[in-house]
Amino acid sequence: MQQQKVVDSNAEDFSDGEEATFQDIDMLQDQGINAADLKKLKAAGICTIKGVQMTTKKALSNIKGISEAKVEKIKEAASKMAIVDESMKRKQCFKISTGSEDLDKLLGGGVESMAITEVFGEFRTGKTQISHTLCVTTQMPGAMGYTGGKVVFIDTENTFRPDRLRPIADRFNLDQAAVLDNVLYARAYTSEHQMELLDHVAAKFHEEAGIFKLLIVDSIMALFRVDFSGRGELADRQQKLAQMLSRLQKISEEYNVAVFVTNQMTADPGAAMSFQADPKKPIGGHILAHASTTRISLRKGRGENRIAKIFDSPDMPESEATFSITNGGITDAKE
Ligand code: GTP
Ligand code: MG
Repeated sequence: MQQQKVVDSNAEDFSDGEEATFQDIDMLQDQGINAADLKKLKAAGICTIKGVQMTTKKALSNIKGISEAKVEKIKEAASKMAIVDESMKRKQCFKISTGSEDLDKLLGGGVESMAITEVFGEFRTGKTQISHTLCVTTQMPGAMGYTGGKVVFIDTENTFRPDRLRPIADRFNLDQAAVLDNVLYARAYTSEHQMELLDHVAAKFHEEAGIFKLLIVDSIMALFRVDFSGRGELADRQQKLAQMLSRLQKISEEYNVAVFVTNQMTADPGAAMSFQADPKKPIGGHILAHASTTRISLRKGRGENRIAKIFDSPDMPESEATFSITNGGITDAKE
């Protein structure tokens, strides 16, 4: 496990790397916001123009040294700078291959940036194996000018295996050591810790602008399940979960990264009673359902085959894709 790294260390200088795909908050200086105020915003974790837009005026005025008048000025400056944002967004959005063309097709091209993609299914349906494969495929150049990039893997179940990336790297003709180097690993021990890690992740994404392309959380709910186990804690759990998902959504948009989360299932007694074909549901309730841009359910097929299905999407057709789990990672189904 010597390749493991912690997200909040190992600062490297990538300043002469790719062009940043987000607008740094320092650009507000051109709009007359002074550097001292920008420093205060950064200290509060707001490092991009988008970050300003996604923070309420109330939250901004709670920052020490930022008056309400200043908040108005900052907000106005940010919206001037952000006019190009929407068209820029469409241009910059990219998709990461899962390793299976059929699964990519189901996803509309792959795992999309600026969005949260959720896969859920019973044990051994391939959630962690897809996550490992994505660690590698993210580093490959792809369609429409996608240049490849680094990955952050947040592991809540201690199932990340760096050595698992080696045969997958071989399959794609990538250097094993380089592949391992480009995956930053962090183990989360509690749901609170999981949330704290996101601060470090955001700081890292900002520091190495445009270098990171994927953030994996495997699994999103496991620690919440442990930390909030009683019935009476459900409301609290959902509130904390909502905060985490909102943070993930912001990170995906601010830094133009894909967020990929895995989730578990629970038997839904109500559904079973109503003779529904699939009585199992993903956990996390409507909070997770709403936060995920795309939800994929996984089930076992023959041998190492797995079947993926779009779950509950209003704008995607109900279709399925079959893929295989192999030594080289996820591939199209082998009959
Ligand atoms: P839980 O986390 O337990 O809910 O399951 P999961 O959905 O994350 O399942 P996971 O991705 O761990 O998939 C396990 C499946 O992948 C098993 O069927 C294994 O046989 C297969 N698998 C795991 N590692 C390898 C490997 O190195 N080579 C091959 N060929 N298959 C593997
Ligand atoms: Mg797993």
